[in-house]
Amino acid sequence: MSRNGKKPALVTGGAGFIGTNVAHRLLESGERVILFDNLSRPGVIKNLEWLRETHGDRLQFVRGDIRDAKAIADVVKPAGKIFHFAAQVAVTTSLDEPINDFEVNARGTLNLLEAVRAQDNPPPLVFTSTNKVYGDLADIKIAANGNRYEPEDKYLREHGFSEKRSVDFHSPYGCSKGAADQYVLDYARTFDIPALVFRMSCIYGVHQFGNEDQGWVAHFLIRAIAGSPITIYGDGKQVRDILFIDDLVDAFLLAHEKMDQLSGKAFNIGGGPRNTISLLELLRIIEEVDGKRPEVDFAEWRAADQLYYVSDTRKFAEATGWKPKLNVGSGVARLYHWLLENVDSESIVKGRWLQNSESSAVARVTTMPRSKRLLQSNGRKKLMAA
Ligand SMILES: NC(=O)c1ccc[n+]([C@@H]2O[C@H](COP(=O)([O-])OP(=O)(O)OC[C@H]3O[C@@H](n4cnc5c(N)ncnc54)[C@H](O)[C@@H]3O)[C@@H](O)[C@H]2O)c1
Repeated sequence: MSRNGKKPALVTGGAGFIGTNVAHRLLESGERVILFDNLSRPGVIKNLEWLRETHGDRLQFVRGDIRDAKAIADVVKPAGKIFHFAAQVAVTTSLDEPINDFEVNARGTLNLLEAVRAQDNPPPLVFTSTNKVYGDLADIKIAANGNRYEPEDKYLREHGFSEKRSVDFHSPYGCSKGAADQYVLDYARTFDIPALVFRMSCIYGVHQFGNEDQGWVAHFLIRAIAGSPITIYGDGKQVRDILFIDDLVDAFLLAHEKMDQLSGKAFNIGGGPRNTISLLELLRIIEEVDGKRPEVDFAEWRAADQLYYVSDTRKFAEATGWKPKLNVGSGVARLYHWLLENVDSESIVKGRWLQNSESSAVARVTTMPRSKRLLQSNGRKKLMAA
């Protein structure tokens, strides 16, 4: 049992995609959970309703903002362990509102760390950072191979990027998440707080309401189910390793279990070299599960987009024995069927889900005209040149 075993787990951003899946697993195993979220992401109230219906009283929901230091201190006090997910989650929206992005991701994380530091027995913390902390990886020699990009270097193709890669923050989102990532590691080092960082590639799965800004696997599926065209930014040969949410939840639980030995470290987490896919290859899988090829249009590259990113997950695997169980084809099919059964994809595509959000800021950003977004995508070239 963990050092704070009987106390509830705190999940910040707990109504979101990853938070809901983590909360569900904890609640299912009999733990109590405090869910802290400001419900700013459109649609996530559905997750909260579902968790409440499924688990009743063992779930305590606190509506609050990670930028509010007092509110976060109040929920940290009773917590036995923490999963920190609350965030401004997209590069695109960080370009629109860099200060908001900084305040939520960097300052918000610092608020949380300070609240943890103030405890006599600081609860252990897992923080979700991103592969974006490694920048656009423009120094890596990449070649097109059919419908995908691949590094020329054989070792990289076989293993992906390890934590030895230097951090190199690109885009406001990269900077704010990267700053938070470094603060978490430093609070572990300087204040001896039990804390670690997952630098995550693309995660996908049930309870994900992906949109054009973030959550591309779910976004593509939602649009395909709704019969709406998908916009691909760039040529679609970009490759990512993708990880199904159940496998990620396994990794989180192991991380907390083995916190004494893992604290102070960062781990690259994703599907790894066995679970890679390009955007064009995803279209092919969607065609197989949905029975028709989705309609596609192409637009300018987006800021700081990596042509190829695959996580080398061996450091975490060696420390814990973890490895992903679900492959890309099975995972995408599972998400497709969950969306078909549980989600009105057409109403998401038409923006009706925005009515569930009380955050005008998020609604404003999400409904920004595409012409303006495309203008901002020119930022990629500037960032590449920097
Ligand atoms: N999903 C991925 O592929 C992925 C990849 C890398 C990193 N991450 C990180 O994992 C975490 C969770 O991502 P997700 O996919 O579940 O995103 P999500 O948007 O579904 O969940 C984030 C949650 O945080 C809440 N939130 C946003 N701003 C808040 C604030 N100021 N105060 C309190 N709550 C706030 C939102 O309402 C939402 O419920 C994020 O930190 C994200 O950066 C996700």
